Amino acid sequence: MPGRFYVTTPIYYVNDAPHIGHAYTTVAADALARWHRLLGEDVFFLTGTDEHGLKVARAAEANGLTPQQQADRTSARYKETWSLLDISYDDFIRTTEARHYASTQALMQAAYDNGWIELGTYEGWYCVACEAYYAPDDLLEGRLCPIHERPVEWLKEDNYFFKLSAFSDRLLEWYRSHPDAVTPESKRNEAVGLIRQGLNDISISRTSISWGVPVPWDRDHVFYVWYDALINYATAIGYGTDPARFDAWWPAVHHLIGKDILRFHCVYWPALLMAAGLQPPCRIAVHGFLLVGGDKMSKTKLNQIAPADLVPTFGSDGFRYHFLRDQQFGPDGDFSYEGMVARYNADLANNLGNLLARVATVVDRKCGGRGPRPDAGSHLAAVAADAYRTAAAAWERIAPHEALEATWRLVRETNAALEAAEPWRAPPGPEVDRVLGDALEALRIVALLASPAIPRASAEIWRRIGVEGSPGDARLPGGADWGGYRGGPVHKGQPLFPRLPSEG
Ligand code: MSP
Repeated sequence: MPGRFYVTTPIYYVNDAPHIGHAYTTVAADALARWHRLLGEDVFFLTGTDEHGLKVARAAEANGLTPQQQADRTSARYKETWSLLDISYDDFIRTTEARHYASTQALMQAAYDNGWIELGTYEGWYCVACEAYYAPDDLLEGRLCPIHERPVEWLKEDNYFFKLSAFSDRLLEWYRSHPDAVTPESKRNEAVGLIRQGLNDISISRTSISWGVPVPWDRDHVFYVWYDALINYATAIGYGTDPARFDAWWPAVHHLIGKDILRFHCVYWPALLMAAGLQPPCRIAVHGFLLVGGDKMSKTKLNQIAPADLVPTFGSDGFRYHFLRDQQFGPDGDFSYEGMVARYNADLANNLGNLLARVATVVDRKCGGRGPRPDAGSHLAAVAADAYRTAAAAWERIAPHEALEATWRLVRETNAALEAAEPWRAPPGPEVDRVLGDALEALRIVALLASPAIPRASAEIWRRIGVEGSPGDARLPGGADWGGYRGGPVHKGQPLFPRLPSEG
């Protein structure tokens, strides 16, 4: 029985266009999904857009659009961006879809029927950009949102409340008995800390706007955008519409999220699931912010960079590689164009690109264009086995930078073996064949192990060295065993990763 792997990104607000911060999470989820497909697992990779709420309604108004038009337009831009970046999602959910209304209403109705939701009045300081109320103590200078540094507004309304306060003990017990439910550990501690501080009941509906999912038992209300949003993860696998499918995928889900939405995912969401009689998610992996010039990207700071600004220069693979290799999944990271160029030139243009070009040229000259088979006793076999083991463990921990670092060790060792043997100087014969056969085998394995990060280049490497099929269709661990390269026609071609001028 193959395992199942369900991975999600946050669903992105449609008030604004996609930028590299959104791409960072999505590329990581995509690479992870691709890795698990290589392992032969049944993978379901979900992304999508979060289309309700005041923020979207106001953006639409500012653009002279209806909220639905705003959502249609921006959701399409997300899809275009993900296609530009070769994101292999299995489903793209939009929270304005009928299936999402059905699941949201069913899940909330279950929590209501279980007695965990009741009517009350709410007033407080509200940040429209966050779609969240803040306690006075949390405000900057007593009046600014701590995240957006913009003035908050006083809102008062009749709301349905979720009795979150009743779930403190159950949540603490959950985190005690599931120590890996939130990673990294610092973020788990942050989640536990939030629960220990004491939880208040939370407002989950609004009467002040109509742009949302109607509360099924009281049509004057719509659910507050965050509570409909979280439920997208249940909608996509059939909550309330296809119970067998839901049970097959839940709760073995891996949520990838930014640190800004930790409270919603690590406190509110597990509690809401418990209230509806469901298990909390098995894993929430939290990452830091991608900063530009030391600041979080935002529309108001005019420091947003779109993936489409970078892909023409770096290609989809170059883009993906940078975010997976240079931005660790966990801590904050500063985006630097110069750093991106340097990494591209070093790892992709020089190490990998040159290795392929060099091997193809020498095979052409010394072996009549046919790749020789590898030597079973090559010292590179052990390096390749180690690359697989280290990469597999790293993907398991959601540490793509380590997986790629391990894979590039094999690239460097292969280049070093060629430098030492200098097959381009030697006469054709078994010695040259041996060195080139090993290099071709190393290239085959590198392309396979790197395919979650650089799917296009990996497929092209296989094509050029005469391996049949595509790395994406191979299976691990067997596919990475030394000796899989059977020889074949080797094609020279244009540089895989043309070198970029370092001044950008
Ligand atoms: N719609 C909510 C999420 C609902 S999930 C049920 C939301 N949307 S968002 O578009 O504002 O941001 C979503 C996510 O994008 C963040 O949590 C984070 O994962 C990612 N990022 C947005 N800006 C980012 C950076 N500057 N850096 C890294 N990730 C960032 O919140």
